[in-house]
Amino acid sequence: MDIAIIGTGNVGKALGTSLTGAGHAVTFAGRDEQKAELVAAEFGVSSARTSREAAQGADVVILAVPFSELENVARDIAPVVTGKVVIDTTNPLTPDYSGLATQGGASAAERLARVLDGARVVKAFNTLFAGVQADPRTHGIPVDALISTDDPEARTKTSELASSIGLRAVDAGPLVRARELEALAFLNIQLQMRHGGDWRTAVALVGAPAAATTEPAAATLASSLVRENNPS
Ligand SMILES: NC(=O)c1ccc[n+]([C@@H]2O[C@H](COP(=O)([O-])OP(=O)(O)OC[C@H]3O[C@@H](n4cnc5c(N)ncnc54)[C@H](OP(=O)(O)O)[C@@H]3O)[C@@H](O)[C@H]2O)c1
Repeated sequence: MDIAIIGTGNVGKALGTSLTGAGHAVTFAGRDEQKAELVAAEFGVSSARTSREAAQGADVVILAVPFSELENVARDIAPVVTGKVVIDTTNPLTPDYSGLATQGGASAAERLARVLDGARVVKAFNTLFAGVQADPRTHGIPVDALISTDDPEARTKTSELASSIGLRAVDAGPLVRARELEALAFLNIQLQMRHGGDWRTAVALVGAPAAATTEPAAATLASSLVRENNPS
């Protein structure tokens, strides 16, 4: 798939690593054109001058920016994402990480959908730390990409993307469930902060209904088995 990644920080680069590894065509954009160019060069992929330009050329747009910038970026790309899948990876944390800035109200993803009312908005990848996004097989077992969206086509496309990088995709329901996905990510962050963890905890649901899940792509499993057997 042609994927625009907007944001060249931890998440942008992590998903850039796994998505380019799975053969997707990635274009990076950020608020700094030269920084996006440098990151794209690291990956041997292209960059766009602006977020809007990147979104315009893509089938799927991944937003990997701070929550505080989410609606600004959304307003910027809105004219060019009608009918496109737009994936929100943000976690709307308060500045001191003590809670969710959206507590008791609409999730970040629902707020995004209000701005992008013509796009197919999805919440996904926010429950996975960047290290796991970059290497979804880091635990040696498939871990889950929990996905919420109101759009069936977007759910299928995002599940395929997640599966292509070695994640098990789990349909977590409509976009309103992003409230729980953002709360779950917050819980995971708190766990790491409280106990000084290595920021790799990930969810792998046991006994999830088969109808809710899309298993990791066979090609990804095969290549990770090759890696495990030939660690050099
Ligand atoms: N880090 C994780 O493990 C993790 C995991 C899951 C979800 N998340 C969520 O994912 C989001 C990104 O996290 P991160 O760790 O990648 O943050 P980060 O390292 O700070 O990266 C954010 C990126 O967004 C760019 N940016 C800021 N404003 C922008 C704008 N208006 N237009 C285009 N690009 C803009 C930044 O540009 P500059 O480089 O110029 O500042 C930076 O490249 C956050 O909402 C976070 O809660 C993070």
